[in-house]
Amino acid sequence: MKQLINLELEEDLEAPIGISKEEYESLIRKSKRIGEEREAYRKMLKTYVPMTGFKVPENPRILNLGCGLCHEAIVLSGYFGGKPFGFDSKDVFVVGIDINEKKIEGARKSYSSIEFEDGKIKYHPRENYQFICGDAIRLRDLVDGEFDIVVARHPNLIDQKDVWIMIFEEANMMTKDKGLFIGSSFTDFEHAYLRECISDAEYFQCLDVKNIHSLYSENLSPHETSYDRNVLFARKW
Ligand SMILES: C[S@@+](CC[C@H](N)C(=O)[O-])C[C@H]1O[C@@H](n2cnc3c(N)ncnc32)[C@H](O)[C@@H]1O
Repeated sequence: MKQLINLELEEDLEAPIGISKEEYESLIRKSKRIGEEREAYRKMLKTYVPMTGFKVPENPRILNLGCGLCHEAIVLSGYFGGKPFGFDSKDVFVVGIDINEKKIEGARKSYSSIEFEDGKIKYHPRENYQFICGDAIRLRDLVDGEFDIVVARHPNLIDQKDVWIMIFEEANMMTKDKGLFIGSSFTDFEHAYLRECISDAEYFQCLDVKNIHSLYSENLSPHETSYDRNVLFARKW
């Protein structure tokens, strides 16, 4: 992805013992970037979800397809659980699925409670998140129950459009009636594919926007990437 981020760091940052200054600075930069990305995602939800007519049910269940490290899980939980930015809700259940084992392991760690035991870090999964490693083509074998909200953030449609059509068809069968689909794409080209795939999977498109909160998206050509550059909302009727 095009490098568009230049996060300023305070000059006198002191690295903790055992970490070099460079490693520490890189870690801080990464955290700041994730924070900015999450804030922008929240603004996107706040601006556009009300325009779809979707009414958030009690204890919403959210399925995130191709979730990767799932930075947005806390944002989805907080927004649909009626919490301020930076907080999640125990009343929202978020399930993420991805074929990449390393990414799923990363997501599991990020959304675990941490404890130090005998000088070692122990990760305890939290009840309101579940991360599944597997091919989402087999969604109904891997995931239980139905969902109010289905998310696909930046699905890699250019590489494997046919695979994603199958995934979206499966997801549609697991979406509750009146449920909401939220898909976003890095580029205008991918977004054109997303529209096609969502129609093929028989969701009904209700809002298709060039996201005004997308980070770093000004003056880009249709090939260049930017987070959640376009967002597509669809419903299951
Ligand atoms: C471009 S990444 C987006 C990741 C994340 N949603 C984000 O926005 O940062 C696409 C993700 O889809 C996952 N993926 C691709 N094919 C998949 C499949 N058949 N089943 C589950 N996940 C898949 C990849 O492993 C990858 O993490």
